[in-house]
Amino acid sequence: MTQMNLASSMLLVTGLATIFTTFAQCGPAKATTNAQDPQHTKNVGEQDPVQPPPDAIRILISGLMLGRLEPCGCASGQLGGLARRMQHIGEQRNYDLLLEGGNIVSGSSELDKQKLFTAAQILFTMERSYDAVGVGLHDLELPLADWSDFLLGGPAVASNLTSTAEAWPAKPFQEKIIRDKTVRIASLLMSELPEALRSEKSHVMRTDPVIAWTGVFEGQADTMMRIAMVHGTDVQIRGIIPKLTPRPDLVIGVDPGYIEPDGAAALVAGVPLVFTGIRGRVVLDARLWRDGDTSRVACETVPLAGSQTIPGGGGDPNVKEVIMMHRMNVAESNVLALMAEQKPTPNGDSYVGTTQCTICHPTAAKAWGASKHAHAWQTLVDAEADPKRYGWPVTKYPDCVGCHVIGYGEQSGFKTYEDTPSLANVGCERCHGPGSGHMISGGKKKMGIIGGVLKSEMCAQCHDFEQSPDFLYTDRWKLIEHGLEPK
Ligand code: HEC
Ligand code: HEC
Ligand code: HEC
Ligand code: HEC
Repeated sequence: MTQMNLASSMLLVTGLATIFTTFAQCGPAKATTNAQDPQHTKNVGEQDPVQPPPDAIRILISGLMLGRLEPCGCASGQLGGLARRMQHIGEQRNYDLLLEGGNIVSGSSELDKQKLFTAAQILFTMERSYDAVGVGLHDLELPLADWSDFLLGGPAVASNLTSTAEAWPAKPFQEKIIRDKTVRIASLLMSELPEALRSEKSHVMRTDPVIAWTGVFEGQADTMMRIAMVHGTDVQIRGIIPKLTPRPDLVIGVDPGYIEPDGAAALVAGVPLVFTGIRGRVVLDARLWRDGDTSRVACETVPLAGSQTIPGGGGDPNVKEVIMMHRMNVAESNVLALMAEQKPTPNGDSYVGTTQCTICHPTAAKAWGASKHAHAWQTLVDAEADPKRYGWPVTKYPDCVGCHVIGYGEQSGFKTYEDTPSLANVGCERCHGPGSGHMISGGKKKMGIIGGVLKSEMCAQCHDFEQSPDFLYTDRWKLIEHGLEPK
């Protein structure tokens, strides 16, 4: 997509957002009273449940979207999606702060770029705009020019990152006054910068998170509420909390290893700690207040159920429109072709296509032909043609294609159905790896499992906890069982 296109679609969306602000279905976010709501008193760390006072600060927290604008819809009951999230937020009338931990996308591909652009429109320019978004390692992977273009003017915060670049979009903190209380939000990155950003020429520098935190609150009254979003592992996050002075009122852990947050805050050195979870599947609804010197948090998780990519599925219609525009842009600018054949194959050999294997492995080929893997491409074609299911160009969307074909993104791998029909579907080489060497050697060069990983791990590259929630290798293998030719 050209810069022109980006600019004009940004205008269009801003225009849409304005229109829908005028005809807002839900009242504007009022940072006034907080009605007491017994639903929100589930837990307070180690203390017994305590009713939050009416003036507690209500914070809606999400994070680690990792490129998941919407669930793929491969299984029923998937959670999350921006359309559903923004609908939920729109239904809330009395929240005070909207926080996004960061790592909105998880790579630096052309698709990631377009996803970040789309997410930034939804999170920062539409009716309900986020107050702060942290900066994680993945966010730094995209070239600064793209990243800063999309986030400039957005509420990016990175307290222990400094940059010499003029277009650096992040501030050391974000701040909001809520019922006479000032709340300041910092974001700390625990890990070292990626290799590429550690050179002399790099525009970005990482400083000590403990010192950066102290700097954010230097000279500020103790009445200021202090929130830290911390990017790191569970151990890193718990480790830094006791070292932070002044003491945070709330720490939000942005940890990709913490898949599903509980509706409970942990207490670390007296500081309430919550996690965002991953892929934007839930929103954390937290109330924060001080009880004398003690910071308290009551929270619950809101699973974003009912989100579907299908027409008529749940979600904010304006957000759905923006996401649909993104999908159309991805198809029109042929991102699928741009991202094909970018990296070498795992064993250096080339993909030859499923039909080549059939010659020497007729029995395995027969079993495969009867399995659903042999229809994975047709499934996408059907989904695309069926307006009741998807009705948008899923065969041109790299995420969908990647799990339904052989070797997409790798040299000699799937490009388009027209170019590489024998690499469509989850064919032999998706599981056994590229077969040119094996074929030429008449079967002497071993195939094994692609990348040398465990069989069950290989299945889980696609059958993950969302696509196949109750996947058990031993059960599912029986449904695709095959092997050597009978002697
Ligand atoms: C490249 C991604 C990918 C990998 C790797 C993969 N699958 Fe699948 N699998 C799919 C897709 C896509 C479908 C659905 C195809 C359709 O319905 O069109 C599927 C469907 C299935 C089905 C039929 C539906 C069901 O669950 O009853 C079984 C069984 C299955 N896979 C087992 C496995 C096993 C066992 C492994 C590992 C040995 C594996 N798959 C590895 C993508 C994958
Ligand atoms: C991470 C890999 C992955 C991605 C990404 C993915 N799929 Fe799938 N898809 C699967 C697997 C695995 C299955 C089989 C699930 C099962 O039955 O256990 C499947 C099944 C399906 C099915 C059949 C479901 C049914 O009810 O029969 C459809 C349709 C589908 N996928 C469409 C899509 C579309 C459209 C996208 C992109 C929006 C997509 N997939 C992205 C892995 C993936
Ligand atoms: C979804 C992944 C997947 C697909 C697709 C697949 N296989 Fe396999 N295949 C496996 C796994 C996993 C095993 C190992 C099973 C075991 O050892 O228990 C296996 C085993 C085999 C074996 C026997 C290996 C041995 O040493 O005993 C042969 C031969 C084979 N596959 C050939 C093929 C051919 C040919 C195709 C395509 C027509 C194919 N496979 C498609 C996953 C797959
Ligand atoms: C020219 C014939 C030929 C072709 C083509 C061929 N194979 Fe084989 N393959 C063999 C022979 C021979 C063996 C060893 C069989 C035996 O020991 O019974 C073998 C063994 C295997 C095995 C089990 C041992 C191992 O290396 O892991 C797998 C898996 C396998 N082939 C997959 C494939 C796949 C996938 C393709 C297509 C890319 C393919 N083969 C194409 C001849 C072939």
